[in-house]
Amino acid sequence: MSDQSGRAARKPFLYVVVCAAGVARDVDRLFAAAQDAGWDMGVIATPQGLGFLDTAAVEARTGYPVRSAWRSPDDSRPLPDPDAIVVAPATFNTVNKWAAGIADTLALGILCEAYGLGVPTAVLPAVNSALAAHPAYVESLRKLRGMGVLVSSRTPHTTTSSHAAAFPWEEAWEEAMEVLAPEISARTSRRTA
Ligand SMILES: Cc1cc2nc3c(=O)[nH]c(=O)nc-3n(C[C@H](O)[C@H](O)[C@H](O)COP(=O)(O)O)c2cc1C
Repeated sequence: MSDQSGRAARKPFLYVVVCAAGVARDVDRLFAAAQDAGWDMGVIATPQGLGFLDTAAVEARTGYPVRSAWRSPDDSRPLPDPDAIVVAPATFNTVNKWAAGIADTLALGILCEAYGLGVPTAVLPAVNSALAAHPAYVESLRKLRGMGVLVSSRTPHTTTSSHAAAFPWEEAWEEAMEVLAPEISARTSRRTA
């Protein structure tokens, strides 16, 4: 596909940051919704999150290697730059570290940097109501909202047992894209200008 100037136009590129929560086993529903909406994507898993993913299936779905560790200095960058980032599922641990500016995993490094780069970012927490009551978590979400991050209203804090069945992948994806749409289109038009 090419635009009017003849340049190859690429699809918008999404980074999906996957953390170590039980619902990560169903993250393919998010990939399907994003691909249906015309996005390409690459996955960055936390080191713990890798254990919740079928890496081969994710790579077959996305066409890109799942990243989890930093590349070596001489290696080329495995993924294109992102037009948007969705953190799904986001754990209590990663939300708190991200808000505090801790970058001790590749996933956190990318998230911390996204703020300065102005990459539109949404977070879909998978955090039960007991953990969600912790003051540090409440403060982390407040801080992330203040940084312009969309905190999904579609992923309510639930009891652990109701968590997996209740996780609304498609609704949260739609909300994220609707809310972030103006930022994303400004970013993609800068890229093709
Ligand atoms: C089976 C299982 C399910 C888990 N589900 C969740 C969850 O839904 N939300 C959460 O915040 N932590 C959950 N955890 C705990 C996290 O895996 C743990 O805090 C981990 O250190 C998070 O690492 P990450 O934030 O780097 O991905 C779960 C752990 C296990 C073993």
